[in-house]
Amino acid sequence: MVSTTPSDPATEGVEGGVGATALLVAAARAIETHRHDSLARDTYAEHFVRAAPASADWPVRPHQVSDGDANPLWGRFARYFGLRTRVLDDFLLRAVHTGDARQVVLLGAGLDSRAFRLDWPAGCAVFEVERAGVLAFKHQVLDGLSAVPKATRVPVATDLRDDWAAALTDAGLDPTAPSVWLAEGLLFYLPPAAETSLIDTVDRLTTEGSALAFEVKLEKDLLAYRDSPLYTTTAQQIGIDLLTLFDPEPRPDSVGHLTSQGWSASVHHPYDFTRRHGRGPLPEQNDALEGNRWVFAHKRRP
Ligand SMILES: C[S@@+](CC[C@H](N)C(=O)[O-])C[C@H]1O[C@@H](n2cnc3c(N)ncnc32)[C@H](O)[C@@H]1O
Repeated sequence: MVSTTPSDPATEGVEGGVGATALLVAAARAIETHRHDSLARDTYAEHFVRAAPASADWPVRPHQVSDGDANPLWGRFARYFGLRTRVLDDFLLRAVHTGDARQVVLLGAGLDSRAFRLDWPAGCAVFEVERAGVLAFKHQVLDGLSAVPKATRVPVATDLRDDWAAALTDAGLDPTAPSVWLAEGLLFYLPPAAETSLIDTVDRLTTEGSALAFEVKLEKDLLAYRDSPLYTTTAQQIGIDLLTLFDPEPRPDSVGHLTSQGWSASVHHPYDFTRRHGRGPLPEQNDALEGNRWVFAHKRRP
């Protein structure tokens, strides 16, 4: 069982607090990998799940979930993560293969293995911005697998509530060249001021021709769906109480903020992608995913 009470949020790893959510997403990706109708394959994911004592007994294959898709956590929620992985894989690959950007920045990268599993163009660098404890665990597992990245991989150990821009540029990000950014499953864990500062920092470190995808939750009160099967099952089955990890303050309007700075943005409902791909979650009563949106933004040429 994980503990969702952070010990030291700046240094904690994947065993507790918000770091444990990286294991949750990894387990969902492991299951997705082995579905007969898989939307995304991540062969590293199950190794992360098995390596952490907190998650070593979680399912990593569909047949290990006795009630299958009827399970709100390892069925519907895991399907959500599988769909999200695929849609954001497609966003990143489209951006680098159709544009000039050769720098990819994964904010709150967690156990994202895109640097190892996606086909990046030559000369691409993937920056993984994450807290030190999570990166240390990730490296321990990847080193054990002798994993070889398909791009230049640059881990950047920092806390996104602090002033992280210098850490990223010191690690080699060139703000004068185009870049592609991703904040997947991250913003609702940050205080509103840190989210707004993150958007400002992305704007400051990007040129035209750059792109950013991020996930938001639109509901004013993130506790609105506290009784939903998705949240209650996640707390009961693996001890991750997401509602205690979400920042309780009202969310800022990051889409409006970006567009006021000259970016274009399109806001997508995940269920549109469920329909497009023919699998994934659909609306239900008391739906904790109802307010989730995936935003694709592009910095316009002036
Ligand atoms: C739900 S996980 C998502 C991980 C990854 N983006 C993915 O989709 O697989 C959230 C991640 O955000 C990271 N995170 C949360 N708050 C952070 C902060 N203040 N600074 C850096 N990373 C943070 C956590 O450590 C965790 O790895």
